[in-house]
Amino acid sequence: MLKRNLAELSVADGKLYRDAMARYAGHVQLVTTAFNGERRGLAVTAACSVSDSPPTVLVCLNHHNEKNRIFFESGIFALNSLAFHHQALSHAFSGLEKLTMDERFGHGNWDTLVTGAPALVDAIATYDCRVVNMIPQSTHTIVVGEVAALRLGGQNPALVYMDRSYRTL
Ligand SMILES: Cc1cc2nc3c(=O)[nH]c(=O)nc-3n(C[C@H](O)[C@H](O)[C@H](O)COP(=O)(O)O)c2cc1C
Repeated sequence: MLKRNLAELSVADGKLYRDAMARYAGHVQLVTTAFNGERRGLAVTAACSVSDSPPTVLVCLNHHNEKNRIFFESGIFALNSLAFHHQALSHAFSGLEKLTMDERFGHGNWDTLVTGAPALVDAIATYDCRVVNMIPQSTHTIVVGEVAALRLGGQNPALVYMDRSYRTL
């Protein structure tokens, strides 16, 4: 049994990796930015804290998607942590409905904090960041942001993505 698992592990198989990562429970966040009068936002789970001194977060963005270039040029982003009642909002920002940015941002109430990146008014928390580092890695770029402003919302149950569906904590 052990031998079989090791053999499976040695296979450079993207599907096996994706199936394994499907078991990872990720808090869904909307990462947003604004630049030259344009806004962009998408649903992500590859985002987390780096440090509390100074407060720093990271988000991994697919740079094969040309539309993500705005994040690499704007120098700012906001991470908006979603609550369970934000499922429809997450879906709108996941790209599956092929909505325009105006249509995406038509869902939810938005304002800005310090940097100008769109901030979801009823997010559990919004981390408003200035980009301090960008590290390309294979298909994605790790964008590191220092938190310039932070807004805490209601302590609602978190929206979690696991087993390719929404859950809550
Ligand atoms: C639950 C979930 C998590 C996602 N996590 C990420 C992520 O961490 N990084 C990323 O680049 N894309 C992630 N995506 C994909 C983007 O949301 C999607 O590629 C993007 O919205 C594509 O469509 P667009 O170019 O029309 O915006 C995720 C999608 C879903 C549904």
